[in-house]
Amino acid sequence: MNKSNSIYEPTRETVELAAATLQGGGLVAFPTETVYGLGADATNDLAVAAIYAAKGRPSFNPLIIHAPDAAALEKIVTFSETARRLAKRFWPGPLTMVLPRRPDCPVSLLAGAGLSTLAVRVPDHPVALRLLRTVALPIAAPSANASGRLSPTTAAHVAESLGKNVGIILDGGASTIGVESTVVDLTTSVPVVLRPGGISIEDLEQIAGQVERADSGAKAESGIATPKSPGMTDSHYAPRLPLRMDAISASADEGFLKFGADAAACGGAVVRNLSPEGNLLEAAANLFAMLHELDAIGGLSGIAVMPVPNTGIGMAINDRLRRAASA
Ligand code: TXA
Ligand code: MG
Repeated sequence: MNKSNSIYEPTRETVELAAATLQGGGLVAFPTETVYGLGADATNDLAVAAIYAAKGRPSFNPLIIHAPDAAALEKIVTFSETARRLAKRFWPGPLTMVLPRRPDCPVSLLAGAGLSTLAVRVPDHPVALRLLRTVALPIAAPSANASGRLSPTTAAHVAESLGKNVGIILDGGASTIGVESTVVDLTTSVPVVLRPGGISIEDLEQIAGQVERADSGAKAESGIATPKSPGMTDSHYAPRLPLRMDAISASADEGFLKFGADAAACGGAVVRNLSPEGNLLEAAANLFAMLHELDAIGGLSGIAVMPVPNTGIGMAINDRLRRAASA
């Protein structure tokens, strides 16, 4: 039964349609036990860019990568012993772990907002697990709401919030937990809870030993290895090289990050173009990969970036560039 144009009862056919849509680079909203997610193929830069565009968010947040089991996630991030114990105890379930990307990780840099870590989880919902097994790709999925709106716990909420920005919404009933997953950073000596959620700190501590909260100031007293400072949990990638915005030309020792086909824009030791056709979605898809690429080239004095229109997903691109320029 099709309750509205985009809401589908999960049957074998509709789950297969949803999986094919994801494999083709499209977006699918699906139920999880916490909240509904807006999913895309995490290995496809353009598909991931479409998530940010659909949510209308004026900045890039790193997204959670979903898979049907820990074995699938072992292919994209490196698990510590603690991470394995937590996975065994809490997956499938409302726990998200931040772990280092593997060197051969196929996940889009945009999905992780350029960071060297990724947030991963196995959701505890039969429809989500069926979809993830069928699609056989890591799926990036933030909560399926427009920016600034409440997280959706029913298919109808998703339809209200995202409307025609999502073609397929799989209806798995009301999310039983109703708050997002707990996000815990396992890249520090003491695990740090970055976002409280479906699993309590006490539950985590039974498996992982001492756990810090990102906002607690009690670390100094504990006398134990200090986790990252709160500033470092902001999760922002910034290039090593200084970045100069609104450049219309570049000097001979700068990397030049262009946008569009402006024939007058000249110079630059190395040139990359975010989108020769001036397509903002393509520019978003290329942003982190090109910044990383230019940043890795030796001998450059900095990166000059041409103006990018400040509309739609261009606002998120400019937000990121501004942060990098002032870093
Ligand atoms: O319950 C949930 O987690 C839902 C369902 C759909 O799975 N998803 C969700 O995703 O809430 P989202 O994108 O709305 O929230 C992702 C959270 C953000 O707080 C983000 O900053 C954090 O995870 N995060 C993602 N990757 C990170 C990373 N590499 N380092 C630190 N924090 C990260
Ligand atoms: Mg959210």
